[in-house]
Amino acid sequence: MSTETTIPDDALAVGLDQLPPPSSVLVIFGATGDLARRKLLPALYNLAHEGSLPERFALVGVARTENADAAYRAEVRAAVERFSRRPPDPTVLDAFVQNVGYVSGGFAEDDAYVALAQRLDALDQEVGQPLNRIFYLSTAPTFFGTIVEQLGKHGLSDRDESDVRVVIEKPFGTTQDEANELNRRVLDVLREEQVFRIDHYLGKETVQNLLALRFANGLFEPIWNRNHIQSVQITAGESVGLEGRAGYYDHAGALRDLVQNHLLQLLCHLAMEPPTAFSADDLRTEKVKVLRAISPIDPERIEEVAVRGRYGPGAVGGEDVPGYTDEPDVPEDSTTETFVALRLDVQTWRWAGVPFYIRTGKRLRRKLTEIAVTLKPVPHMAFQGNAVEPNQIVFSIQPDEHVSIKMAAKVPGSGMHLRPVTLDFSYGTAFLSTSPEAYERLITDAMRGDATLFTRADEVEAQWAVMDPILRAWEGSHAAPDEYPAGSDGPKTQRRILMPGDRWRAI
Ligand code: BG6
Repeated sequence: MSTETTIPDDALAVGLDQLPPPSSVLVIFGATGDLARRKLLPALYNLAHEGSLPERFALVGVARTENADAAYRAEVRAAVERFSRRPPDPTVLDAFVQNVGYVSGGFAEDDAYVALAQRLDALDQEVGQPLNRIFYLSTAPTFFGTIVEQLGKHGLSDRDESDVRVVIEKPFGTTQDEANELNRRVLDVLREEQVFRIDHYLGKETVQNLLALRFANGLFEPIWNRNHIQSVQITAGESVGLEGRAGYYDHAGALRDLVQNHLLQLLCHLAMEPPTAFSADDLRTEKVKVLRAISPIDPERIEEVAVRGRYGPGAVGGEDVPGYTDEPDVPEDSTTETFVALRLDVQTWRWAGVPFYIRTGKRLRRKLTEIAVTLKPVPHMAFQGNAVEPNQIVFSIQPDEHVSIKMAAKVPGSGMHLRPVTLDFSYGTAFLSTSPEAYERLITDAMRGDATLFTRADEVEAQWAVMDPILRAWEGSHAAPDEYPAGSDGPKTQRRILMPGDRWRAI
């Protein structure tokens, strides 16, 4: 029997994801950092576990810490053992760490890139073919531009023999100007198709499913507009606090940390027009149109459409936790927000007049990410004596992965009594499998060169264009954000931005 892998004639139809990505070396800058340990290394291990890594694959870590290959391999092993979503199989893990190497050096220093180039050339020699090169920038954002420029300077940003791509973590700038400037520096060295700006929410199965539900079914699209939809509510509640990231978070705040990227992406998925094809450019062009249609917030009216909050002491999951300003490394006089609620308008034919509510916060009652679409009430209620709530379609992104539709049904028995019931589609039950981590999908796509689930230059700039007026309005005021007890649903003042008849869902 032949052991050769046969590629089916209809490989494209059954999905290229059946094929392993091309042989590659992945270089992680910031290899000893938190993101690498918690997310990237475990994701790579899980890909190895499933046989989804390229046939020839190598991982090279780059960081400032002086380290030898062996010491870094031990760190990789420890990170996988601690953070992998499945208990590691010792044989797979042994084989995986065999392909790990390390280059130490500062991200701005020429020596580091000379050593890296030598290491990459040696790997090509070893495997007997030019490997595709994926540079993953998981460093502090101040280094993103520098690393790309250094790759260019040392001849590492492009080559004829194989593909070179650069994955850039968030945050991509902290203001519109910074994002524009970073794009300029990056695109001075690389072509847009080489750049993969990460937003890990795009790698979540449930986020992609939003597109499948909307555009592969006839059920939703006819009602997906201002004639039938009353409001849209997007919530990303978190029960966690700072998780040791005060240095980053106190400069960022909730708006930059979650709204500028993840929540605007969810809004785009919900509001975009059907793309012609599920391809990187078709999809991203439609998202950019939505972002550009969001009316810029008038700083004079900021109080009507935006609320900032900050958690005080309280209890989450039965455990007492300190307030934000009592967290280690947070300055006492900090005015950073840990909660944001916004009301945005998408000025298009489809959405004019429909409020899009967005809300996120740390140290809320529980972790919950969902999008709730509330339909308008029926125009005439024939069943007198029944107060019927409007239909609501809820896309639960996490931790429960399901879609539910709330509707009215008759209570069995004489008379016509109505009660809300729920139609539920649960991922776990329907597919009997657990979803892969977002990073597994995104790393694979970057190795394949598929940028559909990554943010394009104009898209990230359009996201900042929505955020900038809000940031500027807030900068003008030095008031502390509205306080909410840790473990609650956020500040009471969030009600202020609701239109008459609308209400926040419980977290
Ligand atoms: C990150 C933010 O981008 O997303 C974190 O920096 C946040 O502050 C995290 O906790 C939430 O991601 P997820 O996948 O747990 O919803």
